[in-house]
Formats: sequence, C-alpha cells, structure tokens
Amino acid sequence: MNTQIIDGKLIAETIKSELKNKVLTLKEQSITPGLAVILVGENPASQVYVNNKKKACEYVGMKSFSYELPAQTSEKEVLDLVETLNNDNHVHGILVQLPLPKHMDEQKIILKIDPAKDVDGFHPQNVGALSIGLEGLVSCTPAGVIELLKRSEIEIAGKHCVVVGRSNIVGKPVSLLLLREHATVTICHSRTKNLETVLKQADIVIAAVGITKFITGSMLKPGVVVIDVGINRDENGKLCGDVDFKSCQSVASHITPVPGGVGPMTIAMLMHNCVLAATNQGGASN
Ligand code: GUN
Repeated sequence: MNTQIIDGKLIAETIKSELKNKVLTLKEQSITPGLAVILVGENPASQVYVNNKKKACEYVGMKSFSYELPAQTSEKEVLDLVETLNNDNHVHGILVQLPLPKHMDEQKIILKIDPAKDVDGFHPQNVGALSIGLEGLVSCTPAGVIELLKRSEIEIAGKHCVVVGRSNIVGKPVSLLLLREHATVTICHSRTKNLETVLKQADIVIAAVGITKFITGSMLKPGVVVIDVGINRDENGKLCGDVDFKSCQSVASHITPVPGGVGPMTIAMLMHNCVLAATNQGGASN
C-alpha cells in the first residue's frame, strides 16, 4: 500500500499563516483579537499546552492574556474572573484549561463563559448549536480532524466513518461534524460488542479512546483512512497514539502520526475560533 502520512504540522502552519492575514485585516479595522487563558494549579501537561497557545497567539498577531492561578484558588474567584473577562472588550476568546482542581465544578465554570467567547466550544449553547446545525463555535480538536480530512482531499460524504470513543471533547462532537459532512457515522466505545467487525467496515476511522496502540492493522480494511486523536505514552515514555502506527500504516491509504498529526491542528483551530469570535464581536465582515 502506498500510504500517505498526513502531515498535521504542515497543514496547521498553513492555517496559521492564513489566519495571520485575517488578523491583519481585523487590525486595519482597529480590532486586535485577544485570547484569555485561565490555568489553575500546576499540571505540567497543561502548562505546556497553555504555553503553546500563547506562542500561537503571538505568531498569528493576536493578544494573549494569561491568568495562572494557584491550585487553592476558590471556584468563586474563577467565576468572578470569567465574568470580568466576559465584559472586557479586548478579550474575544476565553479558555479555561482543563482539568481543573477537584474542588471546582467544571460545568459551572464553562456555563459562566459567554458563548460568543467560548473558543473551546464547550458551552452547552455551542454544543447544542452543533447538534442542530446552527452557527456556533466548534470545539477545536474535532474541527481539526475535519480540516485535516478536507485539506488532504479525502471525501467524507457517503463514507462510513467509525469513531472509537464517545467523550464530550472529541468522540461526540467529531461524530456530529462528520454527520454534518454527510458521512454515515458509527460511534463505538468500551461496551461495543464485536468492535473488530465494525472497524472492518470503516472507510475512515477516528481513534479517540485514550488507550495506547488500541487499534491494530489486522482490525482494518485495506485502504482505510486512519485519524489518531490519542496522546499517550508507551512503555518507554515515548509519545504515541491510540493507533499502532506500524501495523496500521501497511493497511491504510492515509494515516496521521503522533506527534505531528491531529495535535498541531487543535491549536490552529483554536486560533481560527479566536479570529472568528473577534470577527463576530467586532462586527467586521471577513
Ligand atoms: N485540556 C485538554 N484538552 C483541552 C482543550 O482542548 N481545551 C481545554 N480548555 N482544556 C483542555
């Protein structure tokens, strides 16, 4: 099989350079898109993600406002900060990095974010809009998956897409997006019977279970497209996905690597959402 490895890093760079131009146009209208990022506590992975988000803002010419709060910050303080940012017209996007410390109710905090500034697409209003096909902000990783497929010229309409995983952050929203693109969608999860039989029927597999090398080549149909959303560590501490790349590569027509596949797309789509939110809030027309 002449397998194409989808270069998510390259596609993400292209998207970010397109956004640079959009930001310039907004600036000509005196709108500088601004993203506020709230990080509570000292989760090292979250710190890396947040730093990458700040760097991406700088790269596309946006402002970033960073709030790094100690782990013992109260829920009320975070809610009050979100309220302040909701009312700050220099801030067009608000992102609360998850997970939050255990003494906080994540849903309560997400609910507090103005849906127009919810660049993570986690607010129930945006999730609801997605499910009934209304305009709204779409969560970044699922949007990145669709963008990867489209920019790799992979047809989605009419294809059988099998999504493995049903999380609120990836599995459910990516399924809705694929449906919006006219795919036939099957969602599998930990209780699915005969997973292999279902996987064998897939034209496109989206792996988002969070289990190291869960999907192997023998489970797949030759020529399948494999998109790996997983970010795990293998027994040697090396970054790897939910897909066993080696065995799947020999079966697939297209496959995303980890790292360098879906990961960089998440940040590119976050930047896209910030620019969209600023455009909508500023009343500009591009
Ligand atoms: N933690 C892990 N992924 C994400 C994400 O996409 N958004 C936020 N806010 N937190 C996360």
